[in-house]
Amino acid sequence: MEGTTSIRRGEPAPPTVFVIFGATGDLTKRKLIPALYNLHEQKLLRDEFAIVAVSRKPTTDEEVRAQMRAEFREFATGKIDESMWLWLEQRIYAHNGNFDDAESYVRLAHRLGDIDRERATGGNYLFYLATPPSYFATIVHQLGNAGLTREEGQHWRRVIVEKPFGTDRDSARALNHELLAVLEERQIYRIDHYLGKETVQNILLLRFANGIFEPVWNRQFVDHVQITVAETVGIGNRAGYFEEAGTLRDMVQNHMLQLLALVAMEPPTSFHADPVRDEKSKVLRAIQALEPEQVLTRSVRGQYGAGIVGGKEVPGYRDEPNVSPQSKTETFVALELYVDNWRWADVPFYLRTGKRLPARATEIAIQFKRAPLSLFRGTRVEHVPPNVMVLHLQPDEGISLGFQAKVPGPVMKMDEVRMHFDYAQRFGATPATGYETLVYDCMCGDPTLFHRADSVDAGWRIVQPVLDVWKALPARGFPNYAAGSWGPDDADELLTRTGRAWRNGR
Ligand code: BG6
Repeated sequence: MEGTTSIRRGEPAPPTVFVIFGATGDLTKRKLIPALYNLHEQKLLRDEFAIVAVSRKPTTDEEVRAQMRAEFREFATGKIDESMWLWLEQRIYAHNGNFDDAESYVRLAHRLGDIDRERATGGNYLFYLATPPSYFATIVHQLGNAGLTREEGQHWRRVIVEKPFGTDRDSARALNHELLAVLEERQIYRIDHYLGKETVQNILLLRFANGIFEPVWNRQFVDHVQITVAETVGIGNRAGYFEEAGTLRDMVQNHMLQLLALVAMEPPTSFHADPVRDEKSKVLRAIQALEPEQVLTRSVRGQYGAGIVGGKEVPGYRDEPNVSPQSKTETFVALELYVDNWRWADVPFYLRTGKRLPARATEIAIQFKRAPLSLFRGTRVEHVPPNVMVLHLQPDEGISLGFQAKVPGPVMKMDEVRMHFDYAQRFGATPATGYETLVYDCMCGDPTLFHRADSVDAGWRIVQPVLDVWKALPARGFPNYAAGSWGPDDADELLTRTGRAWRNGR
């Protein structure tokens, strides 16, 4: 019989005031409020809970509640239970003030004191910085000056920082420095929403709670690893951010390198925060940073032109609202990386991500080495395809293992068959935003799934040489892939030159 064993505590989070900076933004309505509602539905919030929505616009508690009520109708992930929503709504408070106005933080401190008395929240404050990154340092300094980051007695003070964390290695270091001037590292929760995804967390369990995979999870058995994050969406209305960021900063520096780290890391000594984060950092530091000439042969950038996605004509990147008609910003990246350690030496890790690709698919494929061919020489099955294990992270979460089987009949013929585990089929689909686990963990003081300063830096170390070469040699020939295709030809060439090929959703 299949059993379910839980390693999370499953108890309600401690009393908390959840203070959101940037409360009128997209993230709050699309993710944070629905995630908090889902946590309440799962009985993971205590009655001693409150939300403070900080915004620059003057609003009253009533107005902010009405606005969030309306938005929640649109962004709830499942059926709404009115009494559950009311529970949450009554706990929402508005606070108005500019992010750089010291007086506003003094008022905020008083307000939080009042809420503590009203809601018995005990002085535990979680500050969620859902603002543009240029405000991160200012807000943290102001919180510090108002005494709001000081932990005394039993209470705690924590800050969740959204991405992007810096725009290059130097700016990320400078931001860290600013935060650490006010906060202890243990108070800083640098969020990466990929780490909140169930199947991403499952990578560790798959590898380390099963005895059969680790023995083959190395250079002796693995031919190469492919990590693909394919999106069908374009950049929507995010030109302001995306024109500056580009895909390398937006997706690779954080989400994709985290996926690589989870696949390639050594077993931690326990599932506690520091042992897990130590191993992730260690493997990121073991990745060879590309030399400038290697950037030319092991990295590919692309930008989409007009094309057809999901049967609909879509414009090219340069024709998206507020994008420069000469934009050199990349919307596609492919990289060939190597992890310099005993487990992975010489095994290529191919990373690929892009917007306006033909399918939405995030997956990690571990391609094993071929079986020795001698047995089948001279028969019809001379070509034996390799075994591939695919971790499907989204949209359909699951794990599959492909292997060869004999086609019934007197002739020796083979075909690939698959063993497939489907998450939703086995455990049922749980509607979630992906933020529930992360927000809950932060309230419980568990930073395992958050970036530590050293792993942010290790990520920038890998990305920086690529940024530098790309800046020095601006892209020519953009757009170089049609929306609805699998990216530029050079990305295929990255693999075909060694006789390999991208799986492309097979
Ligand atoms: C965000 C990026 O971090 O992740 C977006 O800024 C991207 O550009 C998104 O679309 C992808 O997230 P998900 O969860 O849809 O795979």
